[in-house]
Amino acid sequence: MTQDEMKKAAAWAALEYVEKGSIIGVGTGSTVNHFIDALGSIKEDIRGAVSSSEASTQKLKELGIEIYELNDVDTLSVYVDGADEINPQNEMIKGGGAALTREKIVAAVAKKFVCIVDSTKQVDILGQFPLPVEVIPMARSYVARELVKLGGDPLYRQGVVTDNGNVILDVFNLSITDAKKLEQQINQMVGVVTNGLFAARGADTVIVGTPDGPKTLK
Ligand code: A5P
Repeated sequence: MTQDEMKKAAAWAALEYVEKGSIIGVGTGSTVNHFIDALGSIKEDIRGAVSSSEASTQKLKELGIEIYELNDVDTLSVYVDGADEINPQNEMIKGGGAALTREKIVAAVAKKFVCIVDSTKQVDILGQFPLPVEVIPMARSYVARELVKLGGDPLYRQGVVTDNGNVILDVFNLSITDAKKLEQQINQMVGVVTNGLFAARGADTVIVGTPDGPKTLK
């Protein structure tokens, strides 16, 4: 089974968590693109979706799924999104696609976070994947120096502007043993919009696409 087939298997298995008549939160990335295709097959059963990126919004609209603004919605029954890495505590690194801030906001509103990944994303310790940090452009160099003090090697993601008009620093060489603490420390740096650690709000359910089919972890 290819990695993409494992992503697809996890994505389709997430349909089980979509409540009839509800508005759901939809993340971003290649795994979520499979989930959006799956949603298209049951679009009459849902009211619509709140999306975490322009890319997902466009794909949802193409399939005829109604898009809601988050400010017009009180709650979301579920948020379904991928991850770049996930540890056994269901803490994640996200933001490989630069949509981390909107993803974190939509996830915060949802009652349940269902993370869909292929088995290559599972790690014991987060940090092999560089940690994305979204930064206000004028604070880029200052925040990079602060990240070096934490032991990381930040690299400016050239040519990328987020949906919010900001820039991304990818922080290499972090071995993240206390994800909740590091998430908080980085968020406290002036000029940081958010960082790609999803630990304070981790996943409630993880669906892993494996060569033997999708496996659900709670
Ligand atoms: C987007 O900003 C990310 O958080 C994605 O959820 C993450 O990069 C997973 O992407 P894939 O599903 O493409 O691997």
